[in-house]
Amino acid sequence: MDLPSELRVGIEAALRGVGQAELRAAAAGLSDRYRAGHGASAGPPGGARYVASPAAAAAYAAYRMPATYAAVAAAMAAMAARMPGWAPRSLLDAGAGLGASLWAAAEVWDDLAAAELIESAPAMLSLGRQLAGRGGSPAMAGAAWRQADLTAPWRAERHDLATAAYVLGELPEAARGALVDALWAHSGHALLLVEPGTPAGWAIIRAARERLRAAGAAIIAPCPHQGACPLPEGDWCHFAQRIARSKIQRAAKGAELGYEDEKFAYVAVAREPGTPISARVLRRPVARPGRIELALCAPDGLRTETVTRSNRERWREARDAEWGDALP
Ligand SMILES: C[S@@+](CC[C@H](N)C(=O)[O-])C[C@H]1O[C@@H](n2cnc3c(N)ncnc32)[C@H](O)[C@@H]1O
Repeated sequence: MDLPSELRVGIEAALRGVGQAELRAAAAGLSDRYRAGHGASAGPPGGARYVASPAAAAAYAAYRMPATYAAVAAAMAAMAARMPGWAPRSLLDAGAGLGASLWAAAEVWDDLAAAELIESAPAMLSLGRQLAGRGGSPAMAGAAWRQADLTAPWRAERHDLATAAYVLGELPEAARGALVDALWAHSGHALLLVEPGTPAGWAIIRAARERLRAAGAAIIAPCPHQGACPLPEGDWCHFAQRIARSKIQRAAKGAELGYEDEKFAYVAVAREPGTPISARVLRRPVARPGRIELALCAPDGLRTETVTRSNRERWREARDAEWGDALP
């Protein structure tokens, strides 16, 4: 996956406005924080303190935004595949940061026409607005960026799609459930929650999934069923999305590879069920001589399926299947 070119150019322009030393220091600060376990149960209050300066916002643009964009875009593509007749006209994004979810939604759904973004950090709001100014879609041009603390009372319109990406883990644990409820109440049809693909990120998604199921939401993705999650203790449901890194992003991160793989956990729900799938591929398929092993989550539970060439149709599906894919 590549970043939309306007976003890539915008990030590069933002990085040019910041001194290399300042940017490295800000990127190192973010990096330390994520390595220390973003989404750890302690949940630092308000993200604003981590992205308090324009340099920190620029570092986020280089260091994290491409990866969060990739994760959200992949989750939205999975939603779109299960809701082929539906496209949101409007988006509410909580803890919007630099607007990664807005860019992803505009990429996945051409009809997106309006957006409301809530964020506490002024430096993020300012750079997010600036980046969105480069986007071609009406939703980006007309987006309403609002400063608010999601742990205090906040107001927003109801929108077709509500999202919170890499945000719940930044809130105190006690505030997460209320945000999930509020976002569901503000969603006209669908809600997408994304967290890092770590055990801590998955625990947050799993708790939100249970809460939404209890509220009567239909699970759209990644699960192929509406039941309780069958994953055993110690395992965690997560996926990976590869995203290209530009030269300037590599320099900001001190990285050599031309891409990165973002691991993420997510749940998407809606007010009506999506088109059925027979299973979701939960791990990278393992190809062995004459057979392919698929770790699947299916409506009747978890299973490992060994596919051989004797079943030609299944073999073709298994050969093309990737981690995270839905099997028809
Ligand atoms: C890890 S960033 C994710 C940004 C964006 N959603 C993305 O996927 O790139 C978390 C964002 O949530 C914001 N945030 C954290 N706590 C918040 C709060 N209590 N109220 C509003 N925004 C908050 C932070 O300022 C930060 O921009």
